[in-house]
Amino acid sequence: TKSPYQPQLELAKDAALKAGEIIRSYCSHGTGRSSKNVTVKSGVDLVTEADTRVEKMITGLIKDSFPNDLIIGEEDQADSPNGGQGDPFPTESCWCVDPIDGTTNFVHNYPFVAVSIGYMEGGIPRVGVIYNPFTDSMYEAAEGGGAFLNGKQITIDSDASSIEDCLLVNNIGHYRYEDFVEESAERVKKWLKAGLRGYRASGSAAQNLAHVASGQVSCYYEHGYGGPWDVCAGMVLVKEAGGVVWDARGSETDLEMKFGKGSVCAGGRAVVTDVLKVAGQPTFEFS
Ligand code: IPD
Repeated sequence: TKSPYQPQLELAKDAALKAGEIIRSYCSHGTGRSSKNVTVKSGVDLVTEADTRVEKMITGLIKDSFPNDLIIGEEDQADSPNGGQGDPFPTESCWCVDPIDGTTNFVHNYPFVAVSIGYMEGGIPRVGVIYNPFTDSMYEAAEGGGAFLNGKQITIDSDASSIEDCLLVNNIGHYRYEDFVEESAERVKKWLKAGLRGYRASGSAAQNLAHVASGQVSCYYEHGYGGPWDVCAGMVLVKEAGGVVWDARGSETDLEMKFGKGSVCAGGRAVVTDVLKVAGQPTFEFS
């Protein structure tokens, strides 16, 4: 079935491929970190010349085709006076753009790097494109049209029903508050003691959601992802591939894409339920 959001999907794919060319140009074989003009946003959170360049390019393409739509871009938000924190969530036509999700990976030449372009209407994610320029993997979905990896339809890992047959990817992100670190480590212990089959961390929220959608991992958990730009596109992919995207407190309602304070648990309904049951509710509150 063709989705009514086909025009937005086509634009997002075109923009993601163009972004990929720019990103790859910073990473020719043997180039170290120095060529990337890295700046520290805060703590261990990084931004590079490529993030800014790619975001400007994608934003320009969206504005050419959809001049009235809102755009929330990770780096643009970071420059805004309040860093995007606490902005009211828009209900009009709105794009969520992460030019490079996995910036730290990009800086270190670790290939879990993704361009993430999501489109929402009425506060609901409708289109999601996630492109990894190093593996040349194009994940795409538009509401009602199914999810695809390089043109082939994908589905979640429906064989995973509990922690014992779950390959879990759990990013711990860039927060380093003591209580947060303690709670994150305790949670990992609980999963391992419950017999979790495999534990991974990738450094890219968007890549994780794409991997969930395509059944390449069974479940993705993160308490404290960056912002809507990290998850908007991936939410469409996971849902169109037959999965659920809840928050880490197990809310079955649509994930609220909080700015810098959100949590996410995505995968098949059964495995997500078990992963959350073992983890218990997160208590750390982001101020
Ligand atoms: C980050 C990555 C990371 C996740 C963080 C995000 P960025 O985004 O997705 O995997 O753990 O929560 O902020 O800064 O690389 O675009």
